[in-house]
Amino acid sequence: MANIVLVGAQWGDEGKGKIIDVLTGTSDVVVRSQGGNNAGHTIVHGRKKFVLRLIPSGILRPNKVCVIGNGVVIDPIALLGEIEELRAQGVKIDGNLLISDCAHLVLPYHRLIDERREQLKGKQKIGTTKRGIGPAYGDKAARVGLRMSDLMQPPVFSAKLQVRVRDNNQILRTFGAKPISFKQVEAAYLEAGVKLRPFVTNTVVYLHRALAAKKKILFEGAQGTFLDLDHGTYPYVTSSNTTAGGACTGSGVPPHRVDEVMGVMKAYTTRVGEGPLPSEDAGITNMLHGMGREFGAVTGRARRCGWFDAVATHFATMVNGIDSLAVTNLDGLDSVEVIKICTAYRLDGKTLDVPPSDHQAFARCEAVYEEMPGWKCSTEKARSFKELPPAARRYLQRIAALTGAKLAVVSVGPHRDQTIHV
Ligand code: GDP
Ligand code: IMO
Ligand code: MG
Repeated sequence: MANIVLVGAQWGDEGKGKIIDVLTGTSDVVVRSQGGNNAGHTIVHGRKKFVLRLIPSGILRPNKVCVIGNGVVIDPIALLGEIEELRAQGVKIDGNLLISDCAHLVLPYHRLIDERREQLKGKQKIGTTKRGIGPAYGDKAARVGLRMSDLMQPPVFSAKLQVRVRDNNQILRTFGAKPISFKQVEAAYLEAGVKLRPFVTNTVVYLHRALAAKKKILFEGAQGTFLDLDHGTYPYVTSSNTTAGGACTGSGVPPHRVDEVMGVMKAYTTRVGEGPLPSEDAGITNMLHGMGREFGAVTGRARRCGWFDAVATHFATMVNGIDSLAVTNLDGLDSVEVIKICTAYRLDGKTLDVPPSDHQAFARCEAVYEEMPGWKCSTEKARSFKELPPAARRYLQRIAALTGAKLAVVSVGPHRDQTIHV
């Protein structure tokens, strides 16, 4: 298939980076359409580990064009840091990275407000990455945001920034936080703007030319379905549309040019941050943490873990229109005797096959499980579906059937070659 939208089918960290790295082999252009440096996409090449935050994971393959689309919110200082880190690791950036001139900027007051809001919420906190994502998208929706095109015009940027710093300092003062210096932010951002200038362009036009030239486009989703601003466990969500539609609005590529939606999901469930997670389980959490797994790529926080939640992934298939599935981290279950799958929720004496839209009701749901025998051996060396133990094959077929999409890829380790095309 030509143009693929890849989305997380759970709560983020499904292993999207690894799958993108595999799929980029047969794509020409990789596009990020939403989110910001709250994302952390891990790719392991031999002994090297890369964690991509803003730059599409396709950057690790030469001769692929990587686009940061209009729907992304960019902290220019963080982006430059990421570019420098990659250059130091020998990755070629110049000539293959494009940044949308319409992308909104994350500014220092966004980060400070994000942090203060979380502190003030106390127990009700969202558990954000504190990267200023919510306040930056908030300003975009309120039409007071600054965009990459502003940064490319220093006098325009300075004038707009002055007003925004003044307004946001008032907010910071009411939060009991220290105001920030307009001059310092102006200097740091204008310097970053000079360095980013060679990459900034009208990416909508670039993508339409690429489509006309029959280039294959891969859309790299960030976060996951249940962190979507509209369809997730609001307010315990991020501030962008992480579902498939976000790929179109965030890039300017129309829906009819998308040929396939691929959903990435772990063979179990994880979530970092607060909010409902019906299949959360202390046993599987301790087991995975004991193996040194499931610590956040961005913040290092321990991820909450649970059994595979088919109610959630079935809903994800519905809202994203998922055609094919990539199941990652199958090897995480290699030592489990009896594997549970959440097939329904119980709420107030009723059985639900879709998650409630209200987060309070969602949080009260109890998981209903079916059980399957584990395979109790390593799957890490399997390179074809038939090399997997029969119990693992049955488990994969069962979770794909419950999710309602075709199993296309299975991942049995973080490395590129630990991938099975079904
Ligand atoms: P993303 O945000 O969706 O790209 O996922 P993250 O990179 O935040 O988290 C996924 C973690 O799982 C990373 O540490 C990956 O290296 C790792 N990973 C991905 N697929 C597999 C797999 O099949 N097996 C193992 N053991 N690790 C995997
Ligand atoms: P990738 O792309 C997992 C979570 C945060 C928090 C909520 C809101 O690596 O899958 P934010 O900083 O966005 O305002 O935080 O969303 N979150 C993620 N969880 N993976 C991510 O990205 C996430 N990006 C944000 O933990 O619960
Ligand atoms: Mg991640």
